[in-house]
Amino acid sequence: MNEGIALSTESLVKSYELDGQKFNAVNGISLAVTAGEFVGLVGPSGSGKTTLLAMLSALLTPTTGKVIIDGSNLSDMSDKQRVEFRRKRVGFTFQANNLIPYLTALENVELMLRLNGELNAAGRARSRDLLARLGLSDRLHNLPSQMSGGQQQRVAIARALIHNPAVVLADEPTASLDTERAHQVVETFAQLIHEHKRAGVIVTHDLRMITYTDRVIQMRDGDVARIYTSREEIKELAASGPG
Ligand SMILES: Nc1ncnc2c1ncn2[C@@H]1O[C@H](COP(=O)(O)OP(=O)(O)O)[C@@H](O)[C@H]1O
Ligand SMILES: [Mg+2]
Repeated sequence: MNEGIALSTESLVKSYELDGQKFNAVNGISLAVTAGEFVGLVGPSGSGKTTLLAMLSALLTPTTGKVIIDGSNLSDMSDKQRVEFRRKRVGFTFQANNLIPYLTALENVELMLRLNGELNAAGRARSRDLLARLGLSDRLHNLPSQMSGGQQQRVAIARALIHNPAVVLADEPTASLDTERAHQVVETFAQLIHEHKRAGVIVTHDLRMITYTDRVIQMRDGDVARIYTSREEIKELAASGPG
């Protein structure tokens, strides 16, 4: 394993059939993300961002190619091993936040630790601290239905980060947030990824959010169209608008 690389893919392909025609939603992507690096994934609707992210999070099996997380090749695992690996090493949050409706904010976050047999006093304290850091200290004991969409999304972000995953993936996490909250959430997300040395990937329509990322991968038709690496390039792209 290469030093510092937490997440990588080799010639990753996902094929689907549309009207009897085979096409590649993801068309042979190779990438590497180091521990502590926050990568933005942008591109037009239908360019393959969600499909790529689903394969990175071991939710979707590639047609061909490899996903390697923390030195482990996902395709070498049995389904059962992959589920367990995902629960321990991957954190993710999607546009629909998938919170459990009958658990409070705090319980939703603690559940991740409980599932991994790691819910102890320290874990409980970390859950509270993380929610507080995301501006939710007065919502700990509220159910999702008692919170705004933005608050729910922040709980989902806490849930994606709490169990010390090697890789944290987010698909459009700011879609339901107002601009100010969106900035706050993505900035905190970036800080946590840097601080705790996670490999982070965020898909976003809102180009302003990529100012918090270290590198931007722009997709088009299932391929990497362009990679932005310098601060200047990223700032320029971010300034080009909300998306
Ligand atoms: N389960 C599926 N079956 C068939 N086609 C799919 C499926 N999932 C996604 N696609 C197609 O793959 C392409 C990429 O989709 P997606 O990854 O969702 O793009 P993005 O997230 O960039 O909008 C689109 O053309 C989409 O219609
Ligand atoms: Mg998508």
